[in-house]
Amino acid sequence: MAICELENASRHYGSGPTLVKALDDFSVTFQPGEFTVLSGPSGSGKTTALNLIGLLDNPTSGVVKIDGQSTAGLSSRALTEIRGHKIGFIFQSFNLVPVLSALENVELALHLSGLDEGVTRELAAESLAEVGLGDLLDRRPNQLSGGQQQRVAIARALVKKPKLLIADEPTANLDSKTGNQVLDLMARLNQEHDATFLFSTHDPMVMERARRVVKILDGRLVEDEKRGA
Ligand SMILES: Nc1ncnc2c1ncn2[C@@H]1O[C@H](COP(=O)(O)OP(=O)(O)OP(=O)(O)O)[C@@H](O)[C@H]1O
Ligand SMILES: [Mg+2]
Repeated sequence: MAICELENASRHYGSGPTLVKALDDFSVTFQPGEFTVLSGPSGSGKTTALNLIGLLDNPTSGVVKIDGQSTAGLSSRALTEIRGHKIGFIFQSFNLVPVLSALENVELALHLSGLDEGVTRELAAESLAEVGLGDLLDRRPNQLSGGQQQRVAIARALVKKPKLLIADEPTANLDSKTGNQVLDLMARLNQEHDATFLFSTHDPMVMERARRVVKILDGRLVEDEKRGA
């Protein structure tokens, strides 16, 4: 069963002369275990598409399905529930809480899990060890490099063991060497956790790493290329 499907999904902003079709009748299916890049120039609709898939935004028309379930008409509470269990989101600018340590940032993702504090601490520490930050648990974001901050963000997304990890230009704020290390990490987690990765980029180097490239232009799907492993 597909982990995620967009069926004729559109996201329009404004109306009349100011109408922007950020996403326009976009249909795509992602299967479990994929390592796929969504690529396209600035303003083509990548963030819009990922926000719909991540249930951070609703389509103007069309349907978003997660793990076989349509999300159309669900309450924001129900959407939060699905997001909490099945989806991890990694942002371009990391989005860490500046006053919290790396450990606390990751723990925060388990805040509503109902687990007790000892357990959440343990899981957060494990997740940080997994991304190679086991020695830096107490550092705050401003005491970490960009690549380290992005790894904290990956640990935070991973700690709930989601089926689907979505990353919006995860390497855009990193130099190419650090960006490649983050991609190595994502590729390893894709294999070891059987997690589906979907990430956006307009960097050709990053595109090289994907096993499938979905190209978007002016909100429309223009190419869907699968590559050998
Ligand atoms: N809240 C909004 N109101 C109006 N238009 C918007 C809004 N958000 C995005 N858009 C427009 O929708 C289109 C797609 O934007 P989107 O952010 O999805 O592009 P992107 O591919 O992620 O670009 P980038 O590579 O620069 O991040 C753009 O034309 C943008 O100006
Ligand atoms: Mg964007």
